[in-house]
Amino acid sequence: MSELLNHTSSPTPSSSTAPGTKSSLIGSKRRMNRVGILTSGGDCPGLNAVIRTIAKSAMRRYGIDVWGIEDGFIGLIQNRMQQLRDADVSNILTLGGTILGTNNKCDPRRYPTKNNGGAQFVDVTNRCLEHIELRQLDALIVIGGDGSMAVTAHLLAQGVPCIGVPKTIDNDLFGTDITFGFSTAVSIATDAIDRIHTTAASHHRAMVIEVMGRNAGWIALYAGIAGGADVILLPEIAFDLEKVCAAVVYRCNRGKRSSILCVAEGAAPKGGKQAVARIDPSSPEPVRLGGIGQFVATAIEKTTGIEARTTVLGHVQRGGEPIPADRVLAIQFGHAAVEILAQGRMGRLVVMRAGAISDIDLTEVVGQQRRVPMDSSLLLAARDVGTCFGD
Ligand code: F6P
Repeated sequence: MSELLNHTSSPTPSSSTAPGTKSSLIGSKRRMNRVGILTSGGDCPGLNAVIRTIAKSAMRRYGIDVWGIEDGFIGLIQNRMQQLRDADVSNILTLGGTILGTNNKCDPRRYPTKNNGGAQFVDVTNRCLEHIELRQLDALIVIGGDGSMAVTAHLLAQGVPCIGVPKTIDNDLFGTDITFGFSTAVSIATDAIDRIHTTAASHHRAMVIEVMGRNAGWIALYAGIAGGADVILLPEIAFDLEKVCAAVVYRCNRGKRSSILCVAEGAAPKGGKQAVARIDPSSPEPVRLGGIGQFVATAIEKTTGIEARTTVLGHVQRGGEPIPADRVLAIQFGHAAVEILAQGRMGRLVVMRAGAISDIDLTEVVGQQRRVPMDSSLLLAARDVGTCFGD
């Protein structure tokens, strides 16, 4: 378990020490005494705010014991978990990362084992089921993105009562208008663009800022617009390098000797491929993107003669304190998850739609991705003020 939790794990059941009485559960087929929670996938700001909300409201309002599972699904596979006490979840609201630890490589259906030095994958779903039984967990709350929801749907199909809470800085989870972590990432990226403006102007350079987002351009679109980028390149729009260079030259000819280009890591040129930084064969989603920013900067310099530099924001976008909007969203999501749990409505994913918290069938989101639509009002607004999208 995380170094933030310091008491010893116990495999034996124990009764709740939290204040409040156990209420009868509306619509529930079984009494809810104990729930396991885990954070899975890439971390993002706001995870601890959700953990705190779930643990405190489950314990205080419903007298449900909450067990923290370490490092995502791998902790379930390896039976690493412990009961969360009030002290464990106090003073973590603003803390970045996750006190439970996480993992973006673990799928129990494809667990790596060593075989004669090489990697071999086995299905260890049964281990998860055994440990849920052994620890007497009545349900599981999974805080994760699309990959984690696919695993959750698999556990649901095996009869494990599960509830999902969406998280990701990428904002690409289908079914919800927003995930916590996204607004903080946008704020960090926007701050970086703001800072790069002054150095770009001083040196009369084209400055490329590469942001995260995998196959969705939400971070690039929001931070690019908020930071006044002249060019925004998204995975959803294959870009024409000539048009990108022409936009930089056009600005130069009008006396604007610097340009800001906000490039999503998943953006790709017309007829070209996404830039891959590394392949991790041990991961169910092995591709890690990166490098398109430098590709664009090199092309600009070569074609236009204008000096170009690249800044890759990388994991700084995932780190540190969540901004207030993400804290609030995380609290709303966590609270809704506990209400759903108390009502015994399993297989649900908490979502935010049209400004209201609700929940949907968790299996609906599996295999789907929420990408920037071409009729997005933000995209249209940016086009109308002259932002180039390379198309
Ligand atoms: O999904 C979140 C995310 O930060 C993506 O934006 C990025 O492509 C990926 O995770 C990076 O993964 P890792 O932490 O394994 O480098």
